[in-house]
Amino acid sequence: MNDQLGNWKRTHRCGDVTAEYIGRDVCLMGWVQRRRDHGGLIFIDLRDREGIVQLALDPDRDLASHSKAEQVRNEYVVAARGKVSPRPEGTVNPKMKTGEVEIEISELLILNRSETPPFMIDEYAEVAESIRLKHRYLDLRRPALQRNLLMRHRVAKTVRNYLDSQGFIEIETPVLTKSTPEGARDYLVPSRVNTGSFYALPQSPQLFKQLLMVSGFDRYFQIVKCFRDEDLRADRQPEFTQIDCELSFVTRDDIMNVMEGMISTIFKEAIGVEVALPMARLTYAEALERFGVDNPDLRFDLELINITELVVDSQFKVFADVAAGNGLVKALNVKGSATFSRKELDDLTDFVKIYGAKGLAWVKVTEKGWQSPIAKFFTADELAALNRKLDAQVGDLLLFVADKPSVANEALGRLRGHLGQKLGLADKDSYKFSWITDFPLFEYDGEEKRHVAVHHPFTSPLVEDIPLLDTDPGKVRAQAYDLVLNGSEIGGGSIRIHDQAVQSRMFELLGIDHEEAREKFGFLLDALSYGAPPHGGIAFGLDRVMMILTGADSIRDVIAFPKTQKAACLLSEAPNEVNEKQLQELGIRLRTRQK
Ligand code: AMO
Ligand code: AMP
Repeated sequence: MNDQLGNWKRTHRCGDVTAEYIGRDVCLMGWVQRRRDHGGLIFIDLRDREGIVQLALDPDRDLASHSKAEQVRNEYVVAARGKVSPRPEGTVNPKMKTGEVEIEISELLILNRSETPPFMIDEYAEVAESIRLKHRYLDLRRPALQRNLLMRHRVAKTVRNYLDSQGFIEIETPVLTKSTPEGARDYLVPSRVNTGSFYALPQSPQLFKQLLMVSGFDRYFQIVKCFRDEDLRADRQPEFTQIDCELSFVTRDDIMNVMEGMISTIFKEAIGVEVALPMARLTYAEALERFGVDNPDLRFDLELINITELVVDSQFKVFADVAAGNGLVKALNVKGSATFSRKELDDLTDFVKIYGAKGLAWVKVTEKGWQSPIAKFFTADELAALNRKLDAQVGDLLLFVADKPSVANEALGRLRGHLGQKLGLADKDSYKFSWITDFPLFEYDGEEKRHVAVHHPFTSPLVEDIPLLDTDPGKVRAQAYDLVLNGSEIGGGSIRIHDQAVQSRMFELLGIDHEEAREKFGFLLDALSYGAPPHGGIAFGLDRVMMILTGADSIRDVIAFPKTQKAACLLSEAPNEVNEKQLQELGIRLRTRQK
């Protein structure tokens, strides 16, 4: 095949041939984006990963290449030699990097033909994602995806350079391993040699990176694939990539400082954005109080306002009962949105119901006062107090949810995010970071009737809260932190427990008995008994970071070969059935066979 190239040697990439090359001879290779026949003159837009450049083929200059150009179709692969020339007056395209030039072709070689592709390879083609994913190798030719993956490469390189400069060592950890404690479902791999036994693919390298601290590596990192069998969303994939870090002899603040340095370096180098440091910090409690969620989008205000106190004695039973029964009544003042239609309000009501709210009370603030089904329940004094607290002005829309705290916060918090999008409140070019700290150590699992770890069972409590472990475990705060960017959780980590006694107490509280703890995490517990240094770490979701850096709508647009919502690869058709012999070797008999 390469013989075909003979003495042809590429000199430049298409997208790099700018006006400064005018007068030079170049040899380019790439894919035909488009051919235009202007009777006599033929123009070919030639594309490679750096961009597109225009080739001009004039029969008077070289008849042979002109006739070859007549056979060329979209996506043919060609090589072309010629001279870089200025485009004729009036044909300059200022939107293209190469828009001032064209290549006067003296020799053309067709390197390969192409079937007509199932969709146009360009920025604007509206193609069903299932078709794009099935022909991902063609989809990946599109400039937007090429740009995303080139940027991803540069970001990974920046991460390695930065972490290396801070004394981190990249160490690989096993992929065929044991269940880790992140709490999603595991992907299992059957062992042939040990019939009936299974490996779990790692949900993260959590336990191994802690072992590396015990081993004295001091600062570890890894850009690493993690696997979680969970329900997928726009920002979740079953296999995704973490920038995973662990450090010894550090405090929370030390970790946050190094990581702020990494993130700001990434943003500077990838998109030229200066991130203001230090980043904002919010406690979990404050985030919930003001924004209803632990991953607030801080690009806009629209904060939740607690009006529980003001309605506890009101005649509106829905509010009064919730207020009297340890619930919360919270509100949003959507400035200037009293124009919302009945249908829009119904849609917002349906939206909060997804999060368990029983309803959404609304008020339009008009010249004549409250226009609302609930206005009649409040006295003039109550209305005045509410208006003051909510800073209500004519034209505003007030929205209320009354429920137990978790539901009221989440429903209104999500509604806040939804309205932010609907009303375009968030500046697309702004990047608002915030650390969320002091998460609760435990949450109560109503189904299993026991406490479960919010982060994972090796997360250390705040030192001042350790006494509460015995008296009021629900109140214990963790030395855990998430980094949130524009409403997306891009990273999370914690200081770990390195003290055996605290670790045992932790397992007790989680209802994990000694035997189970040994069976699941025995190797870590053993390691902790041989001089474990104080340590902690964090992992960032590289795909999520890339999604934000590139402005992509979906995590799939920053991954070369992503999976669908149903965890399938449409290109390779994985997962697929395997033959009987393979199953037999693994000692597996299926209860059901499809087909
Ligand atoms: P955690 O489970 O919070 O922490 O994961 C860290 C970060 O990984 C990203 N992430 C995902 N990205 C895409 N698809 C997914 N399915 C997915 N799940 C998580 C998120 C998240 O913030 N071992 C701990 C870290 C530590 O304690 O050091 C861990 O894995 O951006
Ligand atoms: P009702 O008295 O049930 O007709 O409700 C009057 C208004 O209050 C309606 O707009 C309901 O959507 C709303 N509503 C009902 N329950 C709640 C709740 N728990 N929180 C907020 N609004 C509610």
